[in-house]
Amino acid sequence: LFSAVEMAPRDPILGLNEQFNADTNPKKVNLGVGVYFDDNGKLPLLQCVQAAEQKMMAKPTARGYLPIDGIVAYDNAVKALVFGADSEPVKSGRVATVQAIGGTGGLKIGADFLKKLSPNAKVLISDPSWENHRALFTNAGFEVGTYAYYDAEKRGVNFGGMLASLKAAAPGTIVVLHACCHNPTGYDITAAQWDQVIEVLKAGKLTPFLDMAYQGFGHGIAEDGAVIGKFVASGMNFFVSTSFSKSFSLYGERVGGLSVLCQDKEEAGRVLSQLKIVIRTNYSNPPTHGGAVVAAVLSDPELRALWEKELGEMRVRIKAMRQKLVDGLKAAGVKQDMSFITSQIGMFSYSGLSKDQMVRLRNEFGVYGTDTGRMCVAALNSQNIDYVCASIAKVM
Ligand code: LMR
Repeated sequence: LFSAVEMAPRDPILGLNEQFNADTNPKKVNLGVGVYFDDNGKLPLLQCVQAAEQKMMAKPTARGYLPIDGIVAYDNAVKALVFGADSEPVKSGRVATVQAIGGTGGLKIGADFLKKLSPNAKVLISDPSWENHRALFTNAGFEVGTYAYYDAEKRGVNFGGMLASLKAAAPGTIVVLHACCHNPTGYDITAAQWDQVIEVLKAGKLTPFLDMAYQGFGHGIAEDGAVIGKFVASGMNFFVSTSFSKSFSLYGERVGGLSVLCQDKEEAGRVLSQLKIVIRTNYSNPPTHGGAVVAAVLSDPELRALWEKELGEMRVRIKAMRQKLVDGLKAAGVKQDMSFITSQIGMFSYSGLSKDQMVRLRNEFGVYGTDTGRMCVAALNSQNIDYVCASIAKVM
């Protein structure tokens, strides 16, 4: 049965973890996967999460099946976070939200639903995009193309190219957009540029699918989420996937969501019924713990304030590490101007290093980033920064 099965390549991001774990270099540094570590190199357990868990432990509950679409309080908290608690879409009940297994799960539920709805639509992702976008939409049965995004020479966004690609897309095309903290480049478009993109999407009758995996890592929770308000104001129907992996440091709990903005409450009910079929036929219903923790934090004013403070600290530390990286590279003898690193945003820096340089970094120095040159600056700390800078300087 399996004699013709080919060996699949390692995952370009998570596959690096396997290689990193097997590496015996005592100085190894993992800048591959997008995970935030504190300045001691430790994965944080947020205080708001601990407090919520302690409250839950004080009143232990049995674990029955959750509803197919997840915990009601969780779904409501996601809606409020993404659209605003007092926003018109939430008040009028025209958002269909489901709990999902991480942001990836939210994308996949949306992709499977869209495949049934528009089987012949094409999907466009940014060039480049998160490695899993192409694979996920391809596996959902779509033909996946790209829209122009990164301008390597300018070290920024090729905005003219982006608009031109979107203008050329056929009506009904599904356009995957990074709501904030573009992965992998770290370059976001400005608020005014979002307005232009939205105009083009609307005029071209394209379907926006926003991936919001890093809300709060750019400029702040509200600031990063502001783009959603712009989409709402446009009158379009659209999809938003949410992830709490990074913002709650709950990677392994797989806590995410999918929200679909519909025309009215009745339509949202019909859409929700279809999303539930996708979930039921894939994994039946979501797990209990992570969703319960996030719902508890987001619905308790004190814990929510603590979460915002802790998320703010992560954001500020990442920014500080960007500056240290720029300074450290200069001190290590890199002649090239690397100051672009501080104009990037979110967890990643698109370093501009070639695949060969990234492979050398990994093999000779145990410094892991993706082959595309992406490095997770959220994993830099005061102990590993000098070593990372010296290693990069050697391969440059
Ligand atoms: C990343 O881009 O490294 C993260 O989103 C983790 C993942 O699942 O790839």
